[in-house]
Amino acid sequence: MPVLTRDQKSNMKWWFCTFLLLVQFELYMVSAILPLNPVKDLVKPLGAPSILSPQDFLSLSYYHKTCPAAEEIIHRKMKAWFLKDYTLAASIIRLHFHDCAIRGCDASILLNHRNSERRAYASKTLRGFQVINEIKAELERKCPKTVSCADILTAAARDATLLLGGPFWEVPFGRKDGKTSIAKEADLVPQGRENVTALIDFFQERGLSILDLVVLSGSHTIGRSSCYSFMHRLANYKGTGRPDPTLDRKYLRNLTRSCKWSSNLVNLDITTPKTFDVKYYNNLGKKKGLLSTDQELYSDPRTAPFVSAFTDQQPDLFFNQFAASMVNLGNVLVYTAPNESEIRLDCNYVNPAPSKKAKRPRRG
Ligand code: HEM
Ligand SMILES: *[C@@H]1O[C@H](CO)[C@@H](O)[C@H](O)[C@H]1NC(C)=O
Ligand SMILES: *[C@@H]1O[C@H](CO)[C@@H](O)[C@H](O)[C@H]1NC(C)=O
Ligand SMILES: *[C@@H]1O[C@H](CO)[C@@H](O)[C@H](O)[C@H]1NC(C)=O
Repeated sequence: MPVLTRDQKSNMKWWFCTFLLLVQFELYMVSAILPLNPVKDLVKPLGAPSILSPQDFLSLSYYHKTCPAAEEIIHRKMKAWFLKDYTLAASIIRLHFHDCAIRGCDASILLNHRNSERRAYASKTLRGFQVINEIKAELERKCPKTVSCADILTAAARDATLLLGGPFWEVPFGRKDGKTSIAKEADLVPQGRENVTALIDFFQERGLSILDLVVLSGSHTIGRSSCYSFMHRLANYKGTGRPDPTLDRKYLRNLTRSCKWSSNLVNLDITTPKTFDVKYYNNLGKKKGLLSTDQELYSDPRTAPFVSAFTDQQPDLFFNQFAASMVNLGNVLVYTAPNESEIRLDCNYVNPAPSKKAKRPRRG
């Protein structure tokens, strides 16, 4: 056997490490591109014709030719807002969920007209619209009529997660913006008082699994809730005349003190409210989940095994699965006829119909 020189050895080490990284990257990309549960053969939601297979429409390289700077611009703007007000990061993640949950990820939540989703009861505490508006304005300057509002919101939610110390994942692009947005549909989004069966059904109707439900609820490791969303737990829970017995006594007293007004805000994760970590799952084991929909994931036999898998011992598992489930969430697309979708110019409004003037043949 020839003896290797030091240079050759370090060269081999380098190749070996690169090889390992490539294998990891490949595994990661495969898991990112193929959602755990293909979305196509699932129930159609809300009277829409069908759920699309995201693989047919979305791709990681969608804007590589038409707007190579898109992701960089989104990230730079998201970061600037985050440094001004870090609470916007959580709000953007939630905004993305509320978008994808109704009519798929089509930016229908951003439309701002009478009776639109954004004006719904369930949307009252949504925030972050101005972040998306500012990103859109910049993208319209750099690559006009190219990047959809739905894609901007999806990428911004990924960047928000990363800025909070959470995982990174590649975002497939190519979503179109919808033209329809109806307030009463937005009120179907779970609001914190549902039972686990209702949560599971809601997710499964959108092609998302019980695992997706538990891992995406892990978003409540950051952000805040208004007292209104959990006040039913503090007294006379389900008509018992007592507070929710699955709520820790000290925590209950603390919450009661913090909730003079139902619009007061409380951290969703009492342990590490500003960090994207697994403490949310640990809290559930100590009766310190804030929403009853969070706490019940701990005790229901269908969701409990996932909750225990994500506690302290397995932080990597949570991060990897969160990345995969966020890709699944971003892949929730609902069929719309070609004339029902577009690249919006202003995320708040459907594009104006082409004016008759523009159609008149030019002279000369
Ligand atoms: C499983 C069903 C879910 C329920 C019942 C639920 C419920 C809620 C409620 C009630 C709030 C507080 C709203 C308020 O009163 O101000 C909230 C906040 C939040 N939710 Fe969820 N949620 C669910 C799933 C999700 C998912 C899937 C995500 C993200 C992928 C998410 C991300 C967030 C974030 C980040 C906040 C904090 C928002 C902020 O600080 O502005 N939630 N959620
Ligand atoms: C769960 O909620 C649904 C919808 O609100 C309701 O129809 C069902 O009876 C509830 N199930 C249980 C076990 O409480
Ligand atoms: C109540 O919660 C706040 C914020 O999490 C904390 O600073 C405070 O120590 C808590 N008080 C009690 C009595 O648990
Ligand atoms: C799209 O086309 C369908 C049928 O061709 C029509 O019923 C619908 O109103 C059109 N939608 C818009 C927004 O023009």
